[in-house]
Parts: sequence; structure tokens; C-alpha cells
Amino acid sequence: MEPEQSDDLKVCHIEESRKVVEPCSIVIFGASGDLTARKLIPALYHLFKEKQMPPEFRVIGFARREKTDDGWRTELRQALDQFSRTKPVDDKVWAEFSTHISYCEGDFGDVEAYKKLEKQLSGFGNALLRNNLMFYLATSPSQFGEVVEKLRDAGLLHKEGNKGWERIVVEKPFGHDLESARLLNSELTRYAREDQVFRIDHYLGKETVQNILMFRFSNSIFERLWTRDLVDNIQITVSENLGVGQRGGYYEEAGALRDMVQNHLLQVMSLVAMEPPVSLEAEPIRDEKVKLLKSIRHLTPAEVDKQVVRGQYFAGMVDGTLRPGYRQEPKVKTDSSVETFVALKMYIDNWRWSGVPFYLRTGKYLPLSASEVRIQFRRTPNILFAALCGNNLDPNSLTLRLQPNEGISLHFNGKVPGTSTSVRPVRMSFSYNSEFGAYTPEAYERLLLEAMAGDATLFIRRDEVESAWAIVDAIRKGWDGKPLTNREFYSAGTWGPQASDDLLAQRGHVWRNPQPKT
Ligand code: BG6
Repeated sequence: MEPEQSDDLKVCHIEESRKVVEPCSIVIFGASGDLTARKLIPALYHLFKEKQMPPEFRVIGFARREKTDDGWRTELRQALDQFSRTKPVDDKVWAEFSTHISYCEGDFGDVEAYKKLEKQLSGFGNALLRNNLMFYLATSPSQFGEVVEKLRDAGLLHKEGNKGWERIVVEKPFGHDLESARLLNSELTRYAREDQVFRIDHYLGKETVQNILMFRFSNSIFERLWTRDLVDNIQITVSENLGVGQRGGYYEEAGALRDMVQNHLLQVMSLVAMEPPVSLEAEPIRDEKVKLLKSIRHLTPAEVDKQVVRGQYFAGMVDGTLRPGYRQEPKVKTDSSVETFVALKMYIDNWRWSGVPFYLRTGKYLPLSASEVRIQFRRTPNILFAALCGNNLDPNSLTLRLQPNEGISLHFNGKVPGTSTSVRPVRMSFSYNSEFGAYTPEAYERLLLEAMAGDATLFIRRDEVESAWAIVDAIRKGWDGKPLTNREFYSAGTWGPQASDDLLAQRGHVWRNPQPKT
């Protein structure tokens, strides 16, 4: 942890204590699916290209469809050409990388298939590749339990005397409410220990989300402002200018609250609001996040009516193109009441944040795709400028731009040069691109690397998932079978229903919308 001199900047390498990534095999269950082609293989390819993979490794795709190793590699190469973040794909790197890839055909419920897998792993002739195992369950959650059980039966999990490590990586959705999440967690941990389960929320793999903790706890000037005495309200927006597209079937079961708030928004909120952890180790950080999630006030059905706004898009113009309404999307019921937008006012019942509203908002087919956290500070006392300018004098604010145009801006007021005495907001801005260059690794690259290294900091612990569901369940109870009313619809391409603005107006606040890159 020795700070080193680099030009006139001090760089502190916190990662020197990071665990080494040992040789291992990565087995992807459900390897024929979209996630493998779009995210996992491109991420592993880039890690390999950037020499971050261990010296020895194997990637085995486990799925039902009949395929040869070569057939699967060809498919993956085609997908990589399409989804790689760097193009064109480097033929030489791919040729070398693809020799690490093989396929194992099998049914998740078939014991023989796991024996075949075991044979493949042993056949690599390297004890580390047989014993250090990462099982990536890119399957439906209903299959998690079965796969884990069969792995155990085949001696691939918890084998007596195994000198390596075994980890299970899973993706959301982790259940659809608290009860199902508990069930799923029990299934997963029936044959695996909690510390072997790595639950992915891809938002935690984003650089800017990781920077929230660095920014807060390595800068004394900002951390001092992070309290109810100085903060008026906090706004977290995750907006998308896309609709549900081909995912109507899934979305009908999920809706924006389950799809985005239960995980990504509450994760961002917990990082923004948590107390400093006692160290940067995984457990202290996750302990603080859980404490924070547990202090978020659960809403009663009556409070849901006042503090939560849901919405559904109808046809409208987005980026100059007419987009269909949600009810016209494929696999969506024509009278669906599923929300594609949600805005909420939450309170955290702890010492630091007592009385400070946290406004969270997310939606499909909003005017632009952007994720931002806006810390709105209190106004100045009502003398001098505020007395003259009233609400026209902007309170200070700090914006953490998570994506795109990643960076941080501080907004304050300044005198307009000239003979008149005018004051207007100005901005002090930090941009990742201009400071560090355009290096934007995909979230999955970081997450896969951390899982291989066995560092659970960026993964969601069981109690985090369950605390988040408890918050969301209370809200859903307030909606309980109520169909959407007319005022809950919004035109695609707008910032949601009017009620979303009214929600903030209750306390004299306004949404600060993300701005397009200028
Ligand atoms: C996923 C949701 O978890 O996150 C999607 O299921 C959403 O509905 C996506 O579009 C947003 O992720 P990102 O990284 O594009 O902001």
C-alpha cells in the first residue's frame, strides 16, 4: 500500500494485496444462451487479450444442444465479432484463446453428463484445472438447485480432500419476492457454502459504481458534506431510451420495480448512503450495505400511494422514431398493468440520513439512457442572494455520472462577468475520458476476474438480496392487484407520468434530469 510518485500525482495501489488468480476451469451451464455469447465470452476474451487470465485455464460450455468443440468455437467467434467491445477481433489472440474452450453436451438432470464433465476436467492433466472450479449458472434460477445437487453428487463440489476451490456464480433474478428469494438461497446453499456463492449485479462491475466508495472515503472535503445537515435530497436516476423489445415475456413477470429497483438502484443507493466500512475487505463492506438496506423505511400501503409512482409507456416518439406502447410489444398482454417506470421517495431511518428524501427513478423509453446520482445540497440562508433571487438561485449539487459521459460535476453559482450583478450556476467537471483515456472495460470482465480471484466484494450476499426484497415486497403489497389508472401512463420519449414530478413537488423539489452529452 506504499503510495508511489508518478509525475506530480500520487497513485496509491490498493490492489497489491489482491489475491492471485490461480489456474482454474470455468464451466458455463446454459452455454447456448444469450448471456454466454453477448457477455461472458467477450469478457473472457478481453481478459485473455489483456493478459489477466491465469497462465492455465479452460472454459467448458455445458448445455443440452448437440455440438462439437469446433462447432461451438465457430458460433462463439461469430458472436464475438458482433459483441466484442474492441473491433475487429484479433485473429491471433482468438486462435490462442479458443484452444482453451471446449463443449460438454448434457442435460442438467442427467448424472451421466456430470460424470462426462468430471472426465473432461480430469483429462486436462493438471490438478489445478481439475480442482479449481468456477461454475457459472447461466440458467433459469429454477435450475440452480438441481445443478448444484448434481455437481455435489458427481464429486465436483465439496469433495472430501479436494485441495482446490469451487465457486458458483449466479445471475439475477434472485427470486421474484422475499419468499422465493429465501427458497432459492436455501437451494443454492444446501450443497454449497454461502462464501462459495457469487451473486452478480452487473452494476457493481461498473467502474463508476465502484468509484462511489473511493470518492466518498478518500476525499475528506466531500465526506464531510454527506449528512442530513447539508444534504437536502438525493436523486438516483437510471433511465433507458429503449423499450422492452423482445423481452416482453420476462418483463411481464418482472416490471421495473423487480427488474431494476430491487437490484441496481438499491445497490447504488446503499453505496451512496452507507457508513464507512472498517476495512476494504468484502465482509465489512457488505455488512455496511446490509445495515443501510435494513435502515430503509418500509412503506405501508397508504405510504405507497403517496410515495411511489408507477407508469407504463404508450406509443410516442423516441429519438425521432415512433415507438410502440408497452401493450403492443411482443408477448405482452394487451391489458397489462406491469410498470415500465417507477419513481419513489424513500427515507433512511438512521442518524446520518434522518429526514432526507432519497428519490429513485427508472424507466424504459425515457428521453435518454443515463445513470446518475445527484446530491442536492441545502439552500443558502435566505439573506443576500437567496433573498433577492429566491428559487432562481440554484442550490449547490454534486452529480455522479455513472454512464454515459462518466464523470463527476460540482454545480455552484458564480458571478456573470460584466457590469450587471448576475449570478448563475456554473460547473466544475471531472471526466473519466479526459483524465484516464477511453478505457471502459465491460462490467463482466471485472466481475469474472474477481470471482476467479475469490474476492466477493462486488457480489451480493444473501442478506443483501433478502433485505432488498423486503423493501420491494412492501411496495408491491401497496399495488396489490390494482390496475393502472389513466394518470399512470406516459408517452414513450418523456420523463414518465406527471405524478413523478408531483412526487418531488410535495417537498418543493424537482427532478434534475440527466443531460445529453454536449
Ligand atoms: C438489466 C435489466 O439488469 O439491466 C434490463 O434486466 C436493463 O432491463 C439493464 O436494460 C440495464 O443495464 P445497463 O448496464 O444497460 O444500464
